[in-house]
Amino acid sequence: MSERNTFYITTPIYYVNDVPHIGHAYTTIAADVLARHHRMLGHRTFFLTGTDEHGQKIQQAASAKGLTAQQLADQTVENFRRLWKVLNITNDDFIRTTEERHERVVQHIFSKLLEKGDIYLGSYEGWYCVPCETYVPEAQMGEGNTCPDCGRPLQKMTEESYFFRMSKYEKPLLEYYESHPEAILPKSRYNEIVSFIKGGLKDQSISRTTLTWGVPVPGDPKHVVYVWFDALINYLSALGYPDENGLWKTFWPACHHLVGKDIIRFHSVVWPALLMALELEPPRMVFAHGWWTVDGDKMSKSKGNVVDPFEMADVYGVDPFRYFLLREVPFGLDGDFSERAMVQRINSDLANDLGNLLNRTLQMMKKYRDGLVPSAVSPTGLELSVRRMGEEVTVQVDDLLERFAFDEALKAIWSFIGRANKYIDETMPWKLGSEGKGEELDRVLRTLFEALKLASQLVYPFMPECASRIWSQLGLPGSVSDCRRPWSFDEMEPVKVEKGDVLFPRIDLAKWDETRGRLLAERVAAAQGGQGSEGDDMDYSDHEEEITIDLFKKVELRVAQVLAVEPVPKADKLYKLELDLGYEKRTIVSGIREFYQPDELVGKRIIVICNLKPSVIRGVKSNGMLLAAESPSTKNFTLGLLTVDRDVPLGSRIH
Ligand code: ME8
Ligand code: MG
Repeated sequence: MSERNTFYITTPIYYVNDVPHIGHAYTTIAADVLARHHRMLGHRTFFLTGTDEHGQKIQQAASAKGLTAQQLADQTVENFRRLWKVLNITNDDFIRTTEERHERVVQHIFSKLLEKGDIYLGSYEGWYCVPCETYVPEAQMGEGNTCPDCGRPLQKMTEESYFFRMSKYEKPLLEYYESHPEAILPKSRYNEIVSFIKGGLKDQSISRTTLTWGVPVPGDPKHVVYVWFDALINYLSALGYPDENGLWKTFWPACHHLVGKDIIRFHSVVWPALLMALELEPPRMVFAHGWWTVDGDKMSKSKGNVVDPFEMADVYGVDPFRYFLLREVPFGLDGDFSERAMVQRINSDLANDLGNLLNRTLQMMKKYRDGLVPSAVSPTGLELSVRRMGEEVTVQVDDLLERFAFDEALKAIWSFIGRANKYIDETMPWKLGSEGKGEELDRVLRTLFEALKLASQLVYPFMPECASRIWSQLGLPGSVSDCRRPWSFDEMEPVKVEKGDVLFPRIDLAKWDETRGRLLAERVAAAQGGQGSEGDDMDYSDHEEEITIDLFKKVELRVAQVLAVEPVPKADKLYKLELDLGYEKRTIVSGIREFYQPDELVGKRIIVICNLKPSVIRGVKSNGMLLAAESPSTKNFTLGLLTVDRDVPLGSRIH
């Protein structure tokens, strides 16, 4: 099999000194999306995650809890395993660095490089940060001999130590990166690493005599292998290296390491140098994603703002959580996690855009065709344009996921979902239904069915459960997870749709603020030692000066399309407008006649206050009000209607 048809994706192996939080969930979900995507592409795929269980940090955390390091590891590893199950992670293997299959390989590599002269015995004196498991060069130390990363005090240590001859690989690494500019992404990280290497590479201390919790150095058991040297090797040991029949023969170097920006140097300097020493190719790609903060703050236990991924899955569902993490922030950049922002995305992108598309379509199939999907009928230009967009978006998604641009891939998918919603507005199938235009109605329903099928396939890597639910509500046989490219429209035999539960129920934001929002604020206040009484009424609004957000939220603003316009008799300023809100039609009387011709208005998407008390104006019942901007000057008085700058479905709520 050619190398391009194999895909090996890894996450960092996580330390077992703590419970998993959204940072860990983020990397692992991203890796899962790629693994599922590549399986759909028909690539031979291997997805690895696991835990990093050795080193001083784990030993100290264990003794603080009155446990042995092994006991702590055995307990904590279960949290990770359970989380990956809950989050629907499809890893092919899970490696623990305390497993025999791993330790054996670490020792093998150590011996091999010692023999080769790439590892040698020397002595090391330096300032060490225990929590970060790393020596800090004097030039980088913070005030009062503290760690520049975590700010905690450093300890002076002198050790006899084995060294890895990294200096030898300075030039080969630079040459490698010069000829492989895509090997580190994003580009900013690539530049950072290349200039770091150009600054000169020192040999690395890779053993410790100050602790016992690690892999013993072969032939010199008063040393244990340094935890990072041990940990990086997991990517090979899990593939059965150096066994001739091992999976590494298939998957190396088709390797993609997904890591946070905190550990990019280990992955794109130390690790490839080590691989070069082993005469193996460096990984095909190291991608360093950004860092999550929470509501603008660094995540920490003392702040009480650590986001628990179990809780997110429980409260909001796994798929919305997966979707939000990858949609909200461009992969590679730092981001801020806010549950409230997640609720808004659930309502707009998931409930409104995707959920409504499914719902409207199934309802019409039920109403007009008794649930039977019409067989394919020859498409007109409109249908062809919907299809073409589906095909284009599929290609775009492949390209974007090739460079891990999850947010852009989701945007592309949502542009297609938006197109399908617009197609409903354009074709007005309810009209075709009531006018008895059977063939046209069949064409529309069939096209919507195909669009939803494609949407299910496209969202599958991101939201596997949601995709399966769409698949089965469409009455499609088999499982969406078994779909393989290439896909095409019209390949299915007619089936019967099966309307199920709503995909994503809307969350009432005002209620959320009163309940969940308040709970979160209370947690933060409690963590700050109960002095948070002033902060108790945490306010999530951005516009506190004049009115509270609650007042604004009471105004129900929605997108509507103008269907028809008539002058109101004997009132030279008034029009009677027929509007389509997607879910219903309305009549509104409005004083905009002197500013617009009727044909300028028809088809326009405008903003309407929907929950205004109806009133009768010049004998016409007006149900709502439209929004317009007026010039402040009375001289050149002008008026402009509010509209939306892209196609959102009719009825979309304004927030
Ligand atoms: O570093 N935002 O393990 P670790 C985004 N054992 N991602 C975050 C994050 C945040 N706030 N916090 C953590 C180790 N992560 C080593 C790795 S690999 C051979 C050894 C994610 O438990 C991110 O992927 O500290 C980061 O790189 C990783 O968790 C660090 O996990
Ligand atoms: Mg860490």
